[in-house]
Amino acid sequence: MPVPTSPLRPVASAAAQIRGDRAGSAADAAGTADDPASGPVTATASPAHTSAPDGAQRHNGRAQAQSADAATTAARRPASGTAPEGSLGLQFPDGFVWGAATSAYQVEGAAKEDGRGDSIWDTFSRTPGKVRNGDTGDVAADHYHRYIEDLDLMKALGLHSYRFSISWPRVLPDGAGEVNQRGLDFYRRLLTGLHERGIAPMATMFHWDLPQALQDIGGWESREVAYRFADYAEVVVNELGDLVPVWLTINEPKTVVQNGYLFGNHAPGFRNPEAAYLAAHHLLLGHGLAVQALRAAGAGSRVGPALNLHPCYPADDTPEARAAARLMDGYENRLYLDSIFLGSYPQDVLADLGESSRMVRAIADRDLEIISEPVDLLAVQYYCPYYVDSSGKKINKLPTSEAHWQQIYPDGMYDILTRITRDYGNIPLTVTENGIPTPDALDIDTDTVDDGGRITFLRDHFAAALRAIRDGVPLESYHVWSLLDNFEWDQGYEQRWGLVYVDYESQRRVLKHSARWYRDVIATNTV
Ligand code: FCB
Repeated sequence: MPVPTSPLRPVASAAAQIRGDRAGSAADAAGTADDPASGPVTATASPAHTSAPDGAQRHNGRAQAQSADAATTAARRPASGTAPEGSLGLQFPDGFVWGAATSAYQVEGAAKEDGRGDSIWDTFSRTPGKVRNGDTGDVAADHYHRYIEDLDLMKALGLHSYRFSISWPRVLPDGAGEVNQRGLDFYRRLLTGLHERGIAPMATMFHWDLPQALQDIGGWESREVAYRFADYAEVVVNELGDLVPVWLTINEPKTVVQNGYLFGNHAPGFRNPEAAYLAAHHLLLGHGLAVQALRAAGAGSRVGPALNLHPCYPADDTPEARAAARLMDGYENRLYLDSIFLGSYPQDVLADLGESSRMVRAIADRDLEIISEPVDLLAVQYYCPYYVDSSGKKINKLPTSEAHWQQIYPDGMYDILTRITRDYGNIPLTVTENGIPTPDALDIDTDTVDDGGRITFLRDHFAAALRAIRDGVPLESYHVWSLLDNFEWDQGYEQRWGLVYVDYESQRRVLKHSARWYRDVIATNTV
């Protein structure tokens, strides 16, 4: 793997950067550096289906899934290293799993390579005016070609777990039917590379890149698409399941519903409430059918949904604001949590939608049984709370990040985690996304990025998660969004969410201060 070059300076590979070298060699990127943190690469990972992390249990009393957990092995390594800068002296439980997350369309690029079909995000981003600066994911962080360098970077950071997504149109270019072997081969190489480095994969089946061919038959408004999703799930589980200990079905169905169908700022770009909640039902149905497909395939992997959850607080002390916050909670959280974990939709939301709504009319007899097919874990994505005023409007009461929708409130992490355990029982939890965009600029002299705001944000959210663990929440792992700067949907490349800076011109990776800080958090298991 050639190390990308910069015209300005000797280039340090990411692995070398973490050791503090200023000019690493290509050998580093190939994993042959002499530092134990970055190589040599050894086949340390256990094959799939051997052991599951302590405390893991299948929800609703089903048998414990057997799962390879390289992360557990990695996390059990004795903590050693320097305390992270600004440490609060808080110790996480032994075996706590630290990771980072990405998604296919946001990092892979190679949009037209090796037989990949178009997704709705290709269509949307290529439509003028839809994405800031006209950016597309055509190249993104070029991870499809640079995945070995990125794997070495993960290893150098000491990650125990890597959460990524599989591109549906790379595997099934037409959404259904013929399987594209070259697409599957890429994920097999990536998965093998993770195992070789002792990093546990966590694979999301669908992170918003619906094959365009399926949008053409109605997208998530069509019940048919939920069944095609289950077929796709069966393909990836059969083909890659031996290397995937944890599957996540659908990433943030709510964002698809709201941004894709209500606000129109995400693909497919509609503004149609009736279509939105019909899509919600089919996304949830697709989730349940995919869980069933995975069980039917006899896969021992664990599986769960990935939900973005928001504590909804009344903006003031009036009964109206309290009632409005409660209904908002229904739309933001309970629509997804109740259907998956309790097998029923929240009555207040159904009543609000109305009996004649397309969604309510679409609920067939056994649908909620399918949607509530028992899962093994819940992946929680927490970015911010909502404050709701007496008219039902979301208002900002707290400072926001560069993302206008993100009010910064670490205690919201505690509130949402403890609430899940309180209301839905002891389902094992993983945080699969939490992070912040900061105004990251590459300092040419020091060749790093001073992103102190990200460090403070993560430190405070980690501390809030630890408080929840101490109060009995079965949280096993935490994945920072994101490993790399990437294509942030309608915001294009403007917002930088990564621990690692990507210079999009050269595709060079540069460790931000937060990446080094996170390495110390992981090495010492403290914050
Ligand atoms: C989440 C998405 C993820 C990323 C972060 C910032 O909603 O799942 O892809 O865009 O927000």
